[in-house]
Amino acid sequence: MEELIYLDNAATSWPKPDNVYEFMIDFYKACGVNPGRSGFDKAIEAGNILEDTRKRLTAFFGGDVDAPERLCFSYNATDALNLLIQGALKPGDHVVTTNVEHNSVIRPINHLVRDHQVEATYVPFDTNGFVDPGDIASAIRPNTRLVIVNHGSNVLGTVQPVADIGRLCKEKDVVFAIDASQTAGMVPIDMQAMNIDVLAFTGHKSLMGSTGIGGLCIRKHVELAQTRSGGTGVRSAYPFHLPEYPYRMEFGTPNMVGIASLWAGQEFIDQSGGVEKIHAGEMKLANKLVAGFHAIDGVTTYCCDSMDNHLATVTMNVEGLEAGDVGIMLDVDFSIATRTGLHCAPLVHQQLGLVDIHGGVRFAAGPFNTEAHIDAAIEAVTEIAERARNMKRVSAK
Ligand SMILES: Cc1ncc(COP(=O)(O)O)c(C=O)c1O
Repeated sequence: MEELIYLDNAATSWPKPDNVYEFMIDFYKACGVNPGRSGFDKAIEAGNILEDTRKRLTAFFGGDVDAPERLCFSYNATDALNLLIQGALKPGDHVVTTNVEHNSVIRPINHLVRDHQVEATYVPFDTNGFVDPGDIASAIRPNTRLVIVNHGSNVLGTVQPVADIGRLCKEKDVVFAIDASQTAGMVPIDMQAMNIDVLAFTGHKSLMGSTGIGGLCIRKHVELAQTRSGGTGVRSAYPFHLPEYPYRMEFGTPNMVGIASLWAGQEFIDQSGGVEKIHAGEMKLANKLVAGFHAIDGVTTYCCDSMDNHLATVTMNVEGLEAGDVGIMLDVDFSIATRTGLHCAPLVHQQLGLVDIHGGVRFAAGPFNTEAHIDAAIEAVTEIAERARNMKRVSAK
């Protein structure tokens, strides 16, 4: 079988680093027991990895290192964002967000708008794919309780100016949260310096962990209401869910293998020279891809004219073809894995006018892609665009 060229790293990073696979297996074999529930050695060892991972990630995101309990684990970013949005807003509140958001922000907000008298404002992005911090500030009202912004677009690849937005939110005393699903492990983040009050992350993308793990990093001055309850393993006689962190935002047995994968993912990032170095390597590939696409007749890219403040994510279309058809050709004829469609970000496609052609084709490089993969992608798209032109000629006859 032809080797698969995997360019779908914005969906999930693959493969994972070898040290991540190895640590997950070794950890689960050695101490895959329930942490924090029992006092035997293995439970304590599992608890140590849990607490150490909280500390590492808190430092990694520039959170409050003296309060690692405010790094709370969830199933994924979607779960974390639901906890955050439902915990921050109550009837009568207003939230400001953007057209760059993923459905994991849009849908929880829309449910609150439809069913719980919450109001929402969606701020559009400019022609280059960036949200103007001034537009966010202008949308803030006296009843605005939350501003939430997708740090890195999973469609356009643009990285929003969160430090500027954070400064304006601080001036207006509104909680500022980011969806760091695409940027955590890819772009340096310093919550304190950037005035980010809450950060939601997922483990399976650039943090190089497994699926099924994500979380929230919540600054000390922020309180989120509890929206679920259940077992915590401590103070079992208390009739309600514990209000203190991390229990306030954690429910039931944690995904310890996922947490171990995040611990090992941090090792990988450190050993690879850090986030900036990994990002620079991926951007070299993305720049090459964009230059290649721009030279092909009939190919349109979106918000890639400048690759500054950008992820290694490039969305494009081939004139005369539906995005899904291009994806099938890439897969079947060239063994190249991409993602097509609306990418769970319908407002991006609505603003770009791409809904009628069913979105775009997304290429996303990761740390294990090579220049040869990019050359193959450019060659494949060149051939597909040629096919589209031939089809047009035939149908014009
Ligand atoms: C910007 C963004 N937010 C949220 C998510 C949801 O992440 P998860 O599937 O881990 O819940 C994704 C996943 O693609 C994403 O790209």
